[in-house]
Amino acid sequence: MSHRVFVSRLIPEAGLEILRARTDLDVWSGEMPPSPTELRDRVKGCDGAICLLSDTIDAAFFKAAGPALKVVSLFAAGYNNVDMNAAREARVIITNTPDQLTEATAELAFTLMAAAARRVKEGIDNVRDGQWRTWGPLILRGRDLRGSTLGIIGMGRIGAALARRAVAFGMQVVFFDPSPFMIPPGDAPVTRVATLDELLGRSDFVSLHCPLTPQTRHIIRKETIALMKPGCVLVNTARGPCIDTDALVDALKKDRIFAAGLDVTDPEPLPADHPLVSLPNCLILPHVGSATFSTRDAMAVGAARNLLDVLDNRLPADTLNPDVFSLPH
Ligand code: GLV
Repeated sequence: MSHRVFVSRLIPEAGLEILRARTDLDVWSGEMPPSPTELRDRVKGCDGAICLLSDTIDAAFFKAAGPALKVVSLFAAGYNNVDMNAAREARVIITNTPDQLTEATAELAFTLMAAAARRVKEGIDNVRDGQWRTWGPLILRGRDLRGSTLGIIGMGRIGAALARRAVAFGMQVVFFDPSPFMIPPGDAPVTRVATLDELLGRSDFVSLHCPLTPQTRHIIRKETIALMKPGCVLVNTARGPCIDTDALVDALKKDRIFAAGLDVTDPEPLPADHPLVSLPNCLILPHVGSATFSTRDAMAVGAARNLLDVLDNRLPADTLNPDVFSLPH
């Protein structure tokens, strides 16, 4: 009998066709994600599921799925939406697709950094609103990347990929990462600093590349913003709650920092009438770090292969809880 598999959104066909050939496949086709109740309903009796960062994977999810569920394969790198203790209790393997999206996300972080520094949003608004009356020596002056210091919080795959880009553009790079598992950014010269305070005090640009954990929730807040250089540009392509949104609104309104470029926000999605949206020095994208055609295809293929590997009793490299593999199911 073929395995029953649920996919919680339409992902690229490259992944679906791999699954269709081998499983009894059910795909959620709505534009909006399934509600927690709908998710629990659809995953009932499945052997595996491919889930997104918008799905809550908790004890209730595993209970609803039942004993057949062996694997939740995430179409994502981040896994703060998964209760890993509950996964262990339920003996369910959790996998993700981190390598596939490293370069695309680093490219977007770089894009946000440059666009926020050079006031691209204000420039576009200026033209659209008919304000472009002449070439102005004093208008829309921004910040240089070259010669500036970029502070990276979290030297994992994406932090390292951004560091290489920044060095190529003539920036100095410092980073803060309390984890011993940091990834060195190849040949790019970077300097590790011992504390977050030191990083914030030295950086003209600060970019977040840490996972969302209890330690990193609101790592950027009123007190830490106070340590940043006045002209600093803040970039977030990690998770929205790493920044205290109210503190950021206040800092941007008061020009306490120069600008922010955000691909992730708290809340997410951000309502169009949220105070952040109308700030001229805040550039916001709708969580599209990995959204290139080839990256999303690679994520779909990776997620499908991870899922099938587990169903075939093989342990994929991108397993987040490999210890569960040896436990009796
Ligand atoms: C996107 O944010 C991801 O974690 O894949």
